[in-house]
Amino acid sequence: MRASDIPEDFDHVLYTEEQVASRIREVAAQIDADYAGRDLLMVGVLNGAVMTMADLCRAMKSHMSMDWMAVSSYGAGTKSSGVVRILKDLTKDIEGRDILIVEDIVDTGLTLSYLVQNLRSRNPKSIEIMAMFRKPEAVTCPLDVKYVGFDIPNEFVVGYGLDYADKYRNLTDVATLAPHVYAS
Ligand code: XMP
Ligand code: MG
Repeated sequence: MRASDIPEDFDHVLYTEEQVASRIREVAAQIDADYAGRDLLMVGVLNGAVMTMADLCRAMKSHMSMDWMAVSSYGAGTKSSGVVRILKDLTKDIEGRDILIVEDIVDTGLTLSYLVQNLRSRNPKSIEIMAMFRKPEAVTCPLDVKYVGFDIPNEFVVGYGLDYADKYRNLTDVATLAPHVYAS
């Protein structure tokens, strides 16, 4: 679905489907160059990173493997609580492997700080992060994110995998919600 299909639900569109696709191609080219000849395992964080992973790995020209984790930062709504729990762990052993975590968004950075620390304890060869979106003003946990799709203002966004109450993940644009959506 595009934002124009239900315009009453949105305040403004930050990035269109075309802008997202174009940025994905640029980041894919960087990853291709950086990981040439290496054995790359991309670890997607469910559910938000599904769209980013699907588009990013298909835009790449080199081999990669894929695995997934699911984590919950306790609490519903639009604020991260900072307490992270693993709901679904990797199926693969990552010891000695080059790992690229693929995440939808870095807000405070708490979720990814926890994940990096957790995965590092399993002795991978390297570990880097790709985040489709980052809110520089919200970061409380300094984190080295090697690949960033877009830096965005500190507002809650949906679309391209990002949800509000598990809706809007299938929005192809990235947008902010109209106030009435939160009220309902
Ligand atoms: P932290 O604060 O740990 O948060 O970096 C990361 C997780 O919080 C969710 N999140 C959002 N989800 N729109 C969303 O749909 C947003 O603007 C947003 N900001 C944070 C998301 O699950 C992310 O993995
Ligand atoms: Mg997420």
